[in-house]
Amino acid sequence: MRILSLRLIVALVIGVTVVSVVSSWYQIRAEKEAFRRDLEQRAETFSETLANSAEYYLQTGDLPGLTKMLQRFGDRDYITGIGVYDRSFSPLIETRGIRSVLRGTPSAFTDAITKNQLSTTYSRVHFKRIYLLAVPLHAVNGDVSGGLIVVYDTAYIRSEIFRVWSRVFIHIVGMALIIAAITLLIVRWSLAGPIARSAAWMKSLRTGRHVIEPPTKDLDFLAPLAHEVAPLAESMLKARAAAEIEARLRNTNQSLWTPQRLAEHVRAKLDGNNLYVVSNREPYIHTRQGRSIAVTVPASGLVTAIEPILYACNGTWVAQGSGDADHDTVDSHDHLQVPPDDPHYTLRRVWISEEEEEGYYYGFANEGLWPLCHMAHTRPIFRVSDWEYYNRVNERFADALVEEIGQETSPVVLIQDYHFALLPRMVKDRVPGARIAIFWHIPWPNPEAFSICPWQQELLDGLLGADLIGFHVQAHCNNFLSTVDRVLEARVDWEHFSVRRGGHWSSVLPFPISVDLIETETDHTAQNGNSADDRSEIFQKLGIEATYLGVGVDRVDYTKGILERFQAVESFLENYPRYQGKFTFVQIGAPSRSHIPRYAEFQKEVEVEADRINERFKRDRWKPIVFLNRQHSHEEVRRYYRAAHLCMVTSLHDGMNLVAKEFIAARDDERGVLILSQFTGAARDLRDAIIVNPYDIRSSGDAIAQALEMSPGEIIDRMQRMRHFVKEHNIYWWAASLIGELGDLRLNRR
Ligand code: G6P
Repeated sequence: MRILSLRLIVALVIGVTVVSVVSSWYQIRAEKEAFRRDLEQRAETFSETLANSAEYYLQTGDLPGLTKMLQRFGDRDYITGIGVYDRSFSPLIETRGIRSVLRGTPSAFTDAITKNQLSTTYSRVHFKRIYLLAVPLHAVNGDVSGGLIVVYDTAYIRSEIFRVWSRVFIHIVGMALIIAAITLLIVRWSLAGPIARSAAWMKSLRTGRHVIEPPTKDLDFLAPLAHEVAPLAESMLKARAAAEIEARLRNTNQSLWTPQRLAEHVRAKLDGNNLYVVSNREPYIHTRQGRSIAVTVPASGLVTAIEPILYACNGTWVAQGSGDADHDTVDSHDHLQVPPDDPHYTLRRVWISEEEEEGYYYGFANEGLWPLCHMAHTRPIFRVSDWEYYNRVNERFADALVEEIGQETSPVVLIQDYHFALLPRMVKDRVPGARIAIFWHIPWPNPEAFSICPWQQELLDGLLGADLIGFHVQAHCNNFLSTVDRVLEARVDWEHFSVRRGGHWSSVLPFPISVDLIETETDHTAQNGNSADDRSEIFQKLGIEATYLGVGVDRVDYTKGILERFQAVESFLENYPRYQGKFTFVQIGAPSRSHIPRYAEFQKEVEVEADRINERFKRDRWKPIVFLNRQHSHEEVRRYYRAAHLCMVTSLHDGMNLVAKEFIAARDDERGVLILSQFTGAARDLRDAIIVNPYDIRSSGDAIAQALEMSPGEIIDRMQRMRHFVKEHNIYWWAASLIGELGDLRLNRR
């Protein structure tokens, strides 16, 4: 740092000095000219006036009078001497100082006599700088009879200029000192300080003893470096955490699934074949924000689940390009290497028109299949045109996928969800050697319910193109097998949970999806603060005065039981009035699919219900329900989870529901109670939650009281057991089971 400071100071001082000297030189030159002009004007006027008087004295022959006058003026400012001469330069009268500065006849004198006009000259005599003026003198008849010489000493101009130069010098020295001081301060504040803090941060990462907050402001200044170092630091933390976990597991002889273990597993199971994932939602969305392009990761469990698999094997993810800057960020093959900061796999974007999205996504997938599979009393809508778009878009994805697969004979294909029921068959027909799985993230209803779909046969046939069909729970597998049994010409093997259709076997198995509890545990930023502090901060920010906090986190969707949840809060406050003024329920509701009329309607219903209940109970700075109707980041949501006394998941029907597991993962303080609908897949896994029937409003209200009054010991016991379960059955375990099962399947069995 010292050498840098020195270099900066020297460079700045030299620069500033050169600029100052050059500009001062011009300025001083102008001043010198001004001094001379002033002298010349004064001297000219003076010598001409003097010459007129001298002429008078000479013409009248009054030499003593002339001598007196010349002696009187000979001592004036800067005048060295005055002399009056005849034409041949013989002195008539001279004052004292003039002899010492005249050498022979000055040329100016000769000029003045011959040209009959004033003549001047600057010269140097014995190191003395002088200004000499010669004025012709006339006789009575007008002839030039002689001349007058006035000599000025110009040394004062030099000393004035010298004074100005000394001022400039002092000025430059002052500036150099100020520059040196400012440079030292800037180097200290903006370079040495941030670098020292960043070094301390990196050291704390390296030693891992106490990980301090990254100096964000400083890192902003060191942005390009930070850009590289931050992911490096994160990978280091993760690697260290993974190593610690591995070591712990080795000690306890346990086997927990980590991203590293999954990576090894996936590589082994793929056996050198490439992996292709297809989903509707893409993992990275590029959007325009002013002039720049921002990249966001959608708040979806799917990305957390699938990314480590692709990461491990450099696979390809085929998904719909839905961001308004998506087109601008792909290459000519619609490819993009992701994650943007640390590219490990390929994202292939598929483009669909607004019209197609309307029919395929909003229409058939979300107004048809979604309510069909979720028994939540919203009538499915089946339009022929939507069905046609659904077919067309499935074909579009099949084309893209087959293009990606190219000449490969036995690729591994993982298809996600109800947007692509027809895709497995389409791909199987075109790439028979492909090993295909489809995971259905939503429930599968019973055969009677499913039978209202006009295209049930086509959907089932499409799905049975897969070698493996996954659901969250066994009950959904059973419903699927019963539906196939009833609708299609196929052999259902209940012993092995598989279906044979047209000589092809499909296994139908449960894979309960989960969350990343390891990740949460090693996320040091999430461990700051404690639950009570977070709670007061949240209440303060919301402008609420309350003691107890309940949370709910959902997309605003009619399957989530949000109205029933609010009514349960109402029933609780009615039946346990001592909690009025004390318990507030915060509902985080991410807007979702609001383009669909039923969703828009439902959004209104939720607002109206919250307002109604609030109107009924609110007082002073307290109200029972806060509805936060916007997208929240993972960090914000986690903060609510960690601050809450209880979390309510009251879906009317749900494949799994990851909110329930995320809440468990967030509670590393082993506090908090989960109230969970019996109609979620999660209710099979999280048996230590308070399980409720969301339609039974009174019991759900009682569950809130039970949660708030549960003893700390019981809360901890329940939470520990649930955390243990989620830790063992985490997202990596889910992915490993799915890929493992797919890799082990015996294709072409008879
Ligand atoms: C459900 C589906 C997911 C989907 C999510 C968000 O959980 O099973 O596949 O990603 O909803 O819905 P969206 O329509 O916004 O993708």
